Amino acid sequence: MLLDTYGRIATDLRVSLTDRCNLRCTYCMPEEGLQWLGKPELLTDDEIVRLVRIAVTLLGVKDVRFTGGEPLLRPGLVGIVERCAALEPRPKLSLTTNGVGLERTAAALHAAGLNRVNVSLDTLRPEVFQALTRRKRHHDVLRGLEAARDAGLTPVKVNGVLIRGVNHDEAPELLAWALGNGYELRFIEQMPLDAQHGWQRSDMVTAQEILASLAARFALTPEPDAARGHAPAEHWLVDGGPYRVGVIASVTRPFCRACDRTRLTADGQIRNCLFAREESDLRGALRSGGSDEEIAESWKVAMWGKKAGSGLDDPSFLQPERPMSAIGG
Ligand code: 5AD
Ligand code: SF4
Repeated sequence: MLLDTYGRIATDLRVSLTDRCNLRCTYCMPEEGLQWLGKPELLTDDEIVRLVRIAVTLLGVKDVRFTGGEPLLRPGLVGIVERCAALEPRPKLSLTTNGVGLERTAAALHAAGLNRVNVSLDTLRPEVFQALTRRKRHHDVLRGLEAARDAGLTPVKVNGVLIRGVNHDEAPELLAWALGNGYELRFIEQMPLDAQHGWQRSDMVTAQEILASLAARFALTPEPDAARGHAPAEHWLVDGGPYRVGVIASVTRPFCRACDRTRLTADGQIRNCLFAREESDLRGALRSGGSDEEIAESWKVAMWGKKAGSGLDDPSFLQPERPMSAIGG
């Protein structure tokens, strides 16, 4: 098991398949992109599948989520999904994507064994999408979402980040649209994980503001805390249910004490927290002939060192060196 000193057990693995992305969301990376990892640094498909196998067979991982950067940019994605779906015990497999290109791949991903997708979409206005992502791909994302739903990658969840002065007023519109299309919408508070280190708490649209703006148009009933489990999202039933809306208040209402996550970067580093400032290298062990048991042991040690929380509220908080796109969401 991947246990830490606070008694938490990580059963949810996030695997970043690439640090590259075809969008340039302003809250994530600069216009010119970043210094991408080189091919020799990236784990190969075989190395990724081996680490997932170790996690599932030796370490009790039950859920595997593929992330990026943008995971659809990884050429071997469908094959990786297929091989992970063949593992015993079979993990639940999901993908976090910006949706660009999903229209072409949704059916193949479903056939390969992918269970679900989370698609990031912050706005329904094409011109705002272009300002936010610096790319004209709004229509592609909407078509990708439909393709995912039609392919059975359900429930399709939509992640939205609200930025003051850009799309801060769009919460009710996004919710009405999600309800009409059968998507489950969750808002994520903006976190200090941008490559430019431009995040400011005062700019962030808080969970409280999001809920107030939704409450002007919908009746929201909180779901009981017991229903939450290890999910970082808190949920509200919309107009009595059955549809719901989620808010991930990572900054103002962190849920670290129930965190069940472990993260693998595209270059084979284990991170025990999004906000961790240390990483543990597994790639070295993989490439120098380490056994499955040795690798599993290093992974356990990496998780044992997990801190109680993100430290966001500590005056000494320092943003991790790697941005979200290199860690995986
Ligand atoms: N704060 C909050 N969410 C972010 N995402 C990317 N960067 C940030 C940030 N700084 C979101 C993306 C995507 C998911 C992986 O995380 O929009 O939905
Ligand atoms: Fe790409 Fe996601 Fe970053 Fe946007 S937030 S630039 S879609 S990695």
